[in-house]
Amino acid sequence: MRRTPTPAWSSVPASELASVDITSRQFAVDPFGFWERLRADAPVQPVRWVRGSTAWAVTRYGDVEAALRDPRMRKNRHDALTTQQPPATPRVPKALASLERGLLSVDGPDHDRLRRLVHQAFTPRRIEQMRDQAACLSDSLLDIAARHGSMDLINDYAVPLPLIMIARIIGVPEKDVSRFRGWTRALLSIGERPLRSIGSVLVFMRYLRRLITVRSRDPRDDLVSALVSARDGGDRLTTDEIVAMLVLLLTAGHETTVNLIGVGTLALLENPEHADLLRARSDDPEAMRTAVEELLRFTSPVETATERWVDRDVVIADHTVPRGSLVLAVIASANRDPSIFPDPDRLDLTRWPNPHLAFGKGPHYCLGASLARLEAQIAIPALLRRAPTLRRPDPTAPAAWRGGPIVRGLESLPVIL
Ligand code: HEM
Repeated sequence: MRRTPTPAWSSVPASELASVDITSRQFAVDPFGFWERLRADAPVQPVRWVRGSTAWAVTRYGDVEAALRDPRMRKNRHDALTTQQPPATPRVPKALASLERGLLSVDGPDHDRLRRLVHQAFTPRRIEQMRDQAACLSDSLLDIAARHGSMDLINDYAVPLPLIMIARIIGVPEKDVSRFRGWTRALLSIGERPLRSIGSVLVFMRYLRRLITVRSRDPRDDLVSALVSARDGGDRLTTDEIVAMLVLLLTAGHETTVNLIGVGTLALLENPEHADLLRARSDDPEAMRTAVEELLRFTSPVETATERWVDRDVVIADHTVPRGSLVLAVIASANRDPSIFPDPDRLDLTRWPNPHLAFGKGPHYCLGASLARLEAQIAIPALLRRAPTLRRPDPTAPAAWRGGPIVRGLESLPVIL
C-alpha cells in the first residue's frame, strides 16, 4: 500500500510543526507523512500532546531504539522533575495515584521486582500452550459472523478474541468480560478527559479489588491468585500494586492487539493481492509468522511508546532536551525509517529480516509480545480462510479511525464475509 500524504507535510512551515495535534482523529488517518517530515528535518521536535502539554518527539530508528533503552529516560516522572518544575503532562487525579505503581510507571529495581512476578505467565512456552484455545475462540466468533454474513470486524472479532484470552490468563470470570471494554477505553482517555473518564476507571479498580478479595479466600490456577499469594508470601506486593498490574494487563492485553488485527485486516483489504497470497499460504506457520511481523511493522499498533521524562539534560541527534522534558519515542516512525527498511511504505508480507520496534525495546519490552503474536497468527489467517471474499460494504468509504494518544486504531470496520 502506497501512502498518499495528507496533507503534503513537506510544505508545512517548520514553525507550524509544533502545533500539529498528533492525538486527533484526523491525524490518525495517515500519520506517516508527518513522521517522515520529522525524520528528515526535525528528528527531535516539540509536538503538541494531551491537554495542551508539549512532548519531544524522537523519530529516527536509532534514536527511538536508544531512547527506549536509556536509563536517563524515566517512567517515574517524580525522579526526573526538579521540585520547581511543574509536571510536563497534567498530574493524574489523586484517586488514581495508585495506578502509578504499574509496570509502565516505574524504573530500575522497582520495575524488575514487579516484572519478575508476572513474567512467568507470559513466557513463549506458556503462551504456546494456549494456541488451541485461541483457535477455538476465533472459530466460534467466526461461526457467529458466518451466520449473519457480516460483522463489525473490530467489535465482533478483533476485540473479543484478545480480551477473552487475557481475561482467562488473569482469572476474570467470562460473564464480566463485556464490561471491560468501556473501562479500558476510559483509562486510555484519562489524560485527555479526566473528568469524563474517572468514574469508569474507579469502578474498574473497585471490581478488581473485589476479585482480589474473592481469590484471597478461594485461590484458583490463575494470575490473580498467583499475585495474591506473592503478596501474602511476604514479597511486599501491596493490593494497590496488584490492582495497578491487573489494570495494565487488561488494558495493554487487548487495546493493542485489537489494532493489529483491525488495521492489519484493513491493510489486507486495501491490498487484495496480499490477502490472496496470505490465504493461499494460511497453512504455512512460517509464512504466517513472517507476515504478522510485517503487519506489526506496517501498522505499528502502539504508535508512540508511553511517556518518558529525562532526569537531566540529554543530547539526542545534536539537540539538547532539557531536564524534566517529556519524550515520546515514535515507534511508528522508526518502523518506516528507510535507513533500516527498504521501501518502508510498501507492505511486503515476505519482508525478512524485520527488526521492527512494534513491541518496544529495553526493560519495558512488551510483556505480552508472544501472546499478541499468537493471537494475530491465528486470527488473521482464520478470517481469510473462512471468508474467501471478505470485503468492506463500501470500499470507498473512509475508514473510521479513532483519535487519542499512544495507540492507533479503528473505531469500527464493517465487513461482509
Ligand atoms: C500487537 C499487540 C501489542 C503491541 C503492539 C504492544 C506494544 C507494546 C509496547 C511498544 C510496549 C512498550 C511501551 C514503552 O516502552 O513505553 C509494551 C509494553 C507492555 N505490554 Fe504490550 N503490546 C501488545 C500486546 C500486549 C499484550 C497482549 C499484553 C498482555 C500481557 C501486553 C502487555 C504489556 C505490558 C504489561 C507492558 C509493560 C511492560 C513493562 O513495562 O515491563 N501487551 N507493549
